[in-house]
Amino acid sequence: MTSELIQYDPQAAYLTDHGLTEGDLRNLAPKLQAAREEVLADAQLWAAEGNVPEDKQPLDAGFHQLPERLLEEYRQQGAQSEVARIIATADRLAHEVDRVVVLGIGGSYMGARAMYEAICHPYHNELPRSERSNRPRISFAGNNVDNDELQGLIDLLSDKSGGSVDDRWAIAVISKSGGTLETAAAFRVLLHKLRSACGDDNEKLSQLVVPVTGDSGKLFDLATALGCPEIFAVPDGVGGRFSILSAVGLLPAAILGIDIVQLLEGAVAMNQHFRDAVVGNNAVLDYTGVCHLMETRRGCDIRLLSTWGSQLEAAGMWYDQLLSESLGKQEKGAVPLTVVNTRDLHSRGQQHQQGKRDKLITNVMVGRCQRDPVAVGSSDFNQDGLNELAQKTLPQILDAATQGTNQAYLDDGRPTTNLHLPELNAHVLGQFFQMLMLATVVEGRLIGINPYGQPGVEAYKKNMNAILRGK
Ligand code: PA5
Repeated sequence: MTSELIQYDPQAAYLTDHGLTEGDLRNLAPKLQAAREEVLADAQLWAAEGNVPEDKQPLDAGFHQLPERLLEEYRQQGAQSEVARIIATADRLAHEVDRVVVLGIGGSYMGARAMYEAICHPYHNELPRSERSNRPRISFAGNNVDNDELQGLIDLLSDKSGGSVDDRWAIAVISKSGGTLETAAAFRVLLHKLRSACGDDNEKLSQLVVPVTGDSGKLFDLATALGCPEIFAVPDGVGGRFSILSAVGLLPAAILGIDIVQLLEGAVAMNQHFRDAVVGNNAVLDYTGVCHLMETRRGCDIRLLSTWGSQLEAAGMWYDQLLSESLGKQEKGAVPLTVVNTRDLHSRGQQHQQGKRDKLITNVMVGRCQRDPVAVGSSDFNQDGLNELAQKTLPQILDAATQGTNQAYLDDGRPTTNLHLPELNAHVLGQFFQMLMLATVVEGRLIGINPYGQPGVEAYKKNMNAILRGK
């Protein structure tokens, strides 16, 4: 597996009329370095478990060193470690069932979906079991309130739990608080279905439910009452949207057969790069600096993550949540927007090319495909005129579209930057997630916004519960 690092290239944001100069980033370097020091100090302060000063609260900085901590524990404790227990449980489920329903919302959902879409076969669920490396199909639920979607999923789930593995299914239910209504309601409905499929055999049922939650709360109590043999923890001090590299993301990833040790190794590599590299050569600091400068100097408060091909849409949605919930506070914070090209060139492209100059476009470019390149091919029916392109492959066409689009943006003074991912594998994704989490907290410290906590999300929950419960 590659250990090449992600590269960030801001060149095309250096535009005289509408962009920045290299000097702008150099001048910002002292502030970026100070923000990095603060983020590193936050991680130590959190690890020291001492008193967190008032102006730092909440301080959910536990995500930062989590990859190092999990890997160290894995090396020291082997089978007893959390990583080994996650892998063992995932392998047991893969052996016993043909579908796992992953329940969770927000930070308890987006990361798993991002990894599934980025790494697994694009038609994973449709493949026969042997072509899925005997890994289960995966379905996501509990991330919305959608009657027909949940009923549709229920139609797919078997009423039996014996016989062939093809008939058996399990639930991975993920909620840090354990009280989120969307997830809890879907869990209750599906638990009822699974229980009857198990013929009220409670021991069998308990083996087929794997919770990931805090070490207290309603879900923890329910899982304990069910007798679930494994309850994985969302570690203290790791906020929901920062929890992708805890059991929250690692369990679903391992169920799908994704190499979670490589994911963690990738994040460790990014941590090291973040600590050691200088401004101008530091993907985290340079990305943060360019985004910040474009917003404050050029009014680009819309941050477009422009993904090419279809596999990174969910990763972009994961980032949308990370940025929105972390920095969308005190009437500040840029607006994230994920686009998927070339698809969205046929819908949003017009606005990005000629609309308001309020956008910074960050292209996420993937160096190598995971599968053999498909060529256009020649045909006796050349009415479409494509014989001229018969030797061209889809990666070549995508490359031409990417270059053509970015040239058109450049010609019109529309700033773009590029994030180069060598390929889509667990190591690179681990780097990618850690890079964007670090960039988000660095930016928070740079602009004086606490990136942790999400007080604004509580209001709707309070109102919804009051309406439903009449109090
Ligand atoms: O980032 C966050 O903390 C939120 O988006 C949560 O992940 C989301 O609200 C789900 O919460 P929970 O995991 O407690 O069900």
